[in-house]
Amino acid sequence: MSGSRSVPVVRCGTKPPAVWRRELAEVLISKARIARRVAHLAQEVQRDLGKQELVVVALLNGTVLFLADLIRHLSVPMRLDFIGVSSYGNGRSSGNLTFTKELRLDVKGRQVLLVDDILDTGRTLGEVRRRLLKLRPASLRICVFLSKPSRGQGRIEADYTGFQIPDQFVVGYGMDFAERYRNLPFVGVLKPKALPGSAVRA
Ligand code: PRP
Repeated sequence: MSGSRSVPVVRCGTKPPAVWRRELAEVLISKARIARRVAHLAQEVQRDLGKQELVVVALLNGTVLFLADLIRHLSVPMRLDFIGVSSYGNGRSSGNLTFTKELRLDVKGRQVLLVDDILDTGRTLGEVRRRLLKLRPASLRICVFLSKPSRGQGRIEADYTGFQIPDQFVVGYGMDFAERYRNLPFVGVLKPKALPGSAVRA
């Protein structure tokens, strides 16, 4: 469905604030740009889902900032639940999926909006979607803040996407490296020296 919607493509950013300059190469998406886009995404969701009650299922941990901003803009009646799932090890590449929290709400016959921070290889959302569909929701839509289109041929598509970004290691706005940087109000690109395989580790 995202193919029919216009998704902003981010190619390069701006200089990071001085305090982050040692660790971040650039600010890819500013706080103000995030705020505008998230409000717009919420409008798209609201238009499609009307007034029926929604079950929002968010994936822990990276989704917390995006989720909090997104649902503040939604005025549909909703219930909220979380699934804990982790794919990244203490580094860059996806490892095996580990589920740390199961869904508690019953989604059978419900409209479900599955929310995640980033669609990278698509393995996480693909597996979660497969599990949720077994619970027979009335509908299941996927909303992601970021997508890296270059990372997956034939991977799953989100119905709502905040931004398309290049294949760079991004942190901030909920996203981490070794559990750091989640609190940054913008999306930044980590300098290569901080990534696994280099002499300096986070
Ligand atoms: C990240 C991110 C997505 C997933 C994307 O989660 O939050 O859920 O990886 O990668 P994929 O498309 O290649 O599967 P992570 O496992 O790092 O856990 P976190 O949300 O706690 O940071």
